[in-house]
Amino acid sequence: AQANETPQWRPLLHYTPRRNWMNDPNGPFFYKGVYHLFYQYNPEAPEWGNMSWGHATSTDMLHWHEHDVALPFSETKDIFSGTVVVDKHNTSGLGTTDNPPLVALYTSVFKKNASNAPDVQAQSLAYSNDEGRTWKSYHKDPVLTLSPPSPHFRDPGVFWYEPGDYWVMATVVANAPKVKLYKSTNLTDWTLLSDFGPVGLVQPGIQWEMPSLFPLPLDGNPTQLKWILMLGVNPWGVSGGSGSIYYVGSFDGTTFRPEGLPPEGAGPAAYDWVDHGADHYAAIVFAGLPAARPVTIGWMSNWDYASQVPTAPWKGQMTLPMTMALRTIDGRPQLCLTPDGHYTALVAAHAALSFDGMRLSSERRLLPEPARGQVMDIDIRMHMHGADRAGIFVRATVDGHVGTKIVYDMKKQTLTVDRSRSGQTGFSPRFSHEHSVSVPAPAGEVSLHVIVDRNSVEVLSRNGSVVMTDLVFPPADAERVMTFSENGMTEFSHMKVTLLDRNQE
Ligand code: FRU
Repeated sequence: AQANETPQWRPLLHYTPRRNWMNDPNGPFFYKGVYHLFYQYNPEAPEWGNMSWGHATSTDMLHWHEHDVALPFSETKDIFSGTVVVDKHNTSGLGTTDNPPLVALYTSVFKKNASNAPDVQAQSLAYSNDEGRTWKSYHKDPVLTLSPPSPHFRDPGVFWYEPGDYWVMATVVANAPKVKLYKSTNLTDWTLLSDFGPVGLVQPGIQWEMPSLFPLPLDGNPTQLKWILMLGVNPWGVSGGSGSIYYVGSFDGTTFRPEGLPPEGAGPAAYDWVDHGADHYAAIVFAGLPAARPVTIGWMSNWDYASQVPTAPWKGQMTLPMTMALRTIDGRPQLCLTPDGHYTALVAAHAALSFDGMRLSSERRLLPEPARGQVMDIDIRMHMHGADRAGIFVRATVDGHVGTKIVYDMKKQTLTVDRSRSGQTGFSPRFSHEHSVSVPAPAGEVSLHVIVDRNSVEVLSRNGSVVMTDLVFPPADAERVMTFSENGMTEFSHMKVTLLDRNQE
């Protein structure tokens, strides 16, 4: 590594390109045993620009192999976000049924350098006949334009709508803000189905980006199918800057109708946050996986400070892939995220240290060695018997001066991730410090699942209906875990630490 590089922050569990800038995941799909991941990439610099689709493959979504750029920018256009589908029945005619084409729908940003007219955004198509290795542009470019042409029309999310036997594409007019739905029988000719929005989370200057529409059975019951519309919003994210929201509703093949959306102006709209941390954005869904295993992946950063994060020679990384479910919690359907099975298997293959039944009264306690490392999985069940606050510090120094604090507050009934003393924080005034979410636990029993990597913390609770994803930039020697209980007693009835940066047992 060069002197100015930051290997101490290079994640072990999360994808990042070797070098240069990355933002949104694009067109993730599973085909013939291989997971493909594309992403917004600048092949030339660690800053946003020259947008292209980078490409990586994996057999477990944990160890990735980076490939050549799949869709490069050119003189005339940049390549923005989109999705890939496996065209099994060769509806596009761009392959054969024996060798189905892989079809990418993405946004072209046509550069109008000569005049001062704004760039036009429209949807384009590329396809691969060699399992994603090489990509060809469709002769008609673009395949879908707004009229009049718009500089804000982007992010096609395409899926096969089984009951109607056609493809559906969700796009945004980002600044409207609205989602536009289209249909097609061949992926090349698209007709408008309907518009959704502006409604719900609409604030001055807000942009809606990266729409995903997909079905999930409520509480695992296939006769209770709901449709989820997942969106990126920027700014006005729950922890500042950009964030991910979702609506639960129905889709009849034409229109998405959210549930519980009050009549206009009649109160808060029925959206919720996919993640309450600061670093979860542009999440989309893997194509080609069985319906029973819907997996999502997001960009682990925030438009508020993404270009200032102090990593080198890369900037930008993915969240862990998460399996999604819809569960009734507190009387309403909530989107729940759980780390994908490959991750669970990785954790199970490592030796775990248990510290069950630990009781703390108004004190801090350093977990003894060998519970030490930069990458770990921590499972906690704590029972607060009178304590006001309790939790843990991860990536902590022995003296406790540095650490990311994960704390449950009994009075406020909130869970907070506090990264104010997590290491480097001063690179941007917009790097927010404390993120909180309401987690009702009247009896003081709280379960937490914490995934710590070299530069991130993901906290899950309440069956995955609460997720907080935060970047952190700790010093390399901050490797300890510290438990604490404030103003009273807390029992850590279960505490399991799995060290993931040691050799597998
Ligand atoms: C979301 C986004 C998309 C766009 C891409 C550009 O983060 O702004 O709307 O397609 O990034 O890189």
